[in-house]
Amino acid sequence: MKRLSVKELLQTAGHHETVEARGWVRTKRGNKQVNFIALNDGSTIHNIQVVAETERFPEEVLKRVTTGAALAVKGVLVESAGSGQAFEIQAREIVVLGEADPEKFPIQPKKHSLEFLRDNAHLRFRTNLFGAIFRVRHAMAFAIHDYFNAHGFYYIHTPLVTASDAEGAGEMFRVTTLDALHPPLTAEGEVDYKQDFFGRATNLTVSGQLEGELAAMALGKIYTFGPTFRAENSNTTRHLAEFWMIEPEVAFNDLHDNMELAEDFLKYLIRYALDHCMDDLLYLSQRLQEEEKEKKAEERSMELIEKLRFVLENPFEHLTYTEAIDVLKSSKPNKNGKFQYPIDRWGVDLQSEHERYLVEKHFKRPVILTDYPAAIKAFYMKQNPDGKSVAAMDVLFPQIGEIIGGSQREENLEKLLGRMNALGLPAESMSWYLDTRRFGTAVHSGFGLGFERLLLFVTGMGNIRDVIPFPRTPKNAEF
Ligand code: 4AD
Ligand code: MG
Repeated sequence: MKRLSVKELLQTAGHHETVEARGWVRTKRGNKQVNFIALNDGSTIHNIQVVAETERFPEEVLKRVTTGAALAVKGVLVESAGSGQAFEIQAREIVVLGEADPEKFPIQPKKHSLEFLRDNAHLRFRTNLFGAIFRVRHAMAFAIHDYFNAHGFYYIHTPLVTASDAEGAGEMFRVTTLDALHPPLTAEGEVDYKQDFFGRATNLTVSGQLEGELAAMALGKIYTFGPTFRAENSNTTRHLAEFWMIEPEVAFNDLHDNMELAEDFLKYLIRYALDHCMDDLLYLSQRLQEEEKEKKAEERSMELIEKLRFVLENPFEHLTYTEAIDVLKSSKPNKNGKFQYPIDRWGVDLQSEHERYLVEKHFKRPVILTDYPAAIKAFYMKQNPDGKSVAAMDVLFPQIGEIIGGSQREENLEKLLGRMNALGLPAESMSWYLDTRRFGTAVHSGFGLGFERLLLFVTGMGNIRDVIPFPRTPKNAEF
């Protein structure tokens, strides 16, 4: 007898008379004559119902069938007379593989708060909600590789340990094997990183972009997809200290091509979710609607699947930072002092409250903002002829704000060096990066998609800690 997953059982039902299923008990209910056991094995949001007649099984066995226990069930797959499922297993044999003491197992068949489940992140996979989220996470990772492979991009593995700070924000985690209490010192009394493992100061990467550019300037179209690390002390629902980023980089693409790629890519991913994850999305949507009931009508957001379709069907709005500042300056919340950070002049950095106003209230669709002030963007961005802005682009999404950040790159060596010098960046140690501009330089562009921000959007979850299995945030690195 071939063991089938619950997903397979539900799909191929009818073709297998006697079947074996293994999984974990979600719930058990019933009466003196019969027990109904909802068994889930993670292959799908749906459970398979196991019908266990009391007379067939010793009380000893059925007593151990509690929420969370692992079971192996053999039986006959039949059409179900009850409502809620098409098929069920009439159990002939039940083996309790692993018990889950109901007094101690934290995940019980009731509504747990997301905070409680975060504290029990090692067990939250066992809930319908986190099963759905992590199946969608898998599907999106797969779709990303699928998209790039189909479009002629090569997957490049960029290093996690690096000596550079790609974004120049100084938000790095140091990597060292030096003794924290007694590090070797230089004559000047500073820590002597020459004696460190790599013979220099190193950190965890904040982005694979710089190395990605090197590869793109030979392979043409590349992407990276890996973990990145930022030691920014942002305790928000959209920031992680360890998050996954997808960074495509394309030789000969200008900012316009870059925007087209970003929109096409995002729409492909959303369509993929609708085509392949509908069972999980329906579950997530229902859960969201339950939550929304508690909100005031005007604060409720669009139904999840409707929202995903809406983004697919509408072209993204394009506008420059300068135009956005004009919109924001004369907006109601700015005039009524409703923004925490009022917009008073060109040059200020946009906060997520401003990004969300543009997307949710003003344009009511995703927005691509371009040509930001150079002073608030990274050193490598293409300098515009106006001498004060750069060819940057941020893609802004409803509920998320910035989901993608990218730019056309400065391909002119002198201009790039000028900017690095102005910012005090060490041009000598970045010589390897500058070589792309010394030898065969060309226009090129790329961007970074925050994988967990994409997942926030697709699953409708409100906190980024709930779309990564084990979140890393300030003061939190358990599990
Ligand atoms: O805008 P960022 O900082 O851009 C870069 O890192 C560039 N090197 C990308 C490139 O051009 N190749 O980050 C890109 C995206 C953001 O738009 C956001 O979605 C996500 O990464 N992101 C974070 N996600 C979770 N937690 C954080 N702390 C994040 N910081 C950025
Ligand atoms: Mg950014």
